[in-house]
Amino acid sequence: MNIVHTVQEVRQIVKAWRKEGLSIGFVPTMGYLHEGHQSLIQRAVLENDRVVVSIFVNPMQFGPQEDLESYPRDLEHDAAICEETGAHLIFHPEPEEMYLPDFCSFVDMNGLTKGLCGKSRPVHFRGVCTVVNKLFNIVGADRAYFGEKDAQQLAVIRRMVRDLNMDIEIVGCPIIREEDGLAKSSRNTYLNELERKAALILHKSLTIGKRLLESGERDANTIISCITEKINTEPLAKIDYVDVVDALSLEKVDKIERSVLVAIAVYIGKTRLIDNFSFEV
Ligand code: PAJ
Repeated sequence: MNIVHTVQEVRQIVKAWRKEGLSIGFVPTMGYLHEGHQSLIQRAVLENDRVVVSIFVNPMQFGPQEDLESYPRDLEHDAAICEETGAHLIFHPEPEEMYLPDFCSFVDMNGLTKGLCGKSRPVHFRGVCTVVNKLFNIVGADRAYFGEKDAQQLAVIRRMVRDLNMDIEIVGCPIIREEDGLAKSSRNTYLNELERKAALILHKSLTIGKRLLESGERDANTIISCITEKINTEPLAKIDYVDVVDALSLEKVDKIERSVLVAIAVYIGKTRLIDNFSFEV
């Protein structure tokens, strides 16, 4: 497995693979890899001849008050995970390689990016769309793998690829959880022991919502109220949002008649965690 830092090196390697007629899978990440990322790499290895993983903490998708500086990094550990999972190439650029000093082109989106996480993170999805677009152009893969953990991100990327006729297949992969139900996340490392216990409230509250839906409840506000009530039993938790939205448009729904995404963002202490589930009617 190779680790490269420049766009040119990625292009050279991928070009050689293409000459051999090999298919290419791509897993974009910000590193500090865990079993969630690993599941995407595993799937990519199964479905493609060659797999590229990018590790880049993208400054453009962090707001001014967010955790860009403290975001955890460990390239050595990440490389070991990629290697043991069967990836062939890591692209690990410096910010200067991705953004020249006079960089001024962006990919932005209306609609899908305004609600849910977009409300409290107004510049986030512009940064995600721009960097993912750049990475797609650099790697030139056949398929790219994204986790359902970031359900809004997955919907946004699917829409960007459709709207801009990008020649790449987007593959969504299920949420990987800790044994006790907490969705795996690089940001879980911010939690102290008490907060780690408190963080279980995300999965617990969603489980209540899911049970309600499964038992036939179709009123979105009832689902939202029950989830909210459960989260509020946890003193360390502060709700950012609890929403029930259409699975494709991400618009709020009142009556649940089509497939929906039930998504939450909750601060546990200073750490903002997200979780969700999809429900098909
Ligand atoms: P990052 O948070 O590192 O996540 C990389 C990919 O791993 C995303 O597609 C995310 O949904 C997936 N992932 C994270 N935790 C997961 C879990 N518990 N189960 C399944 N998949 C999981 O998302 C980003 O980076 C960035 O926004 C990026 C797309 C790389 C653009 O900078």
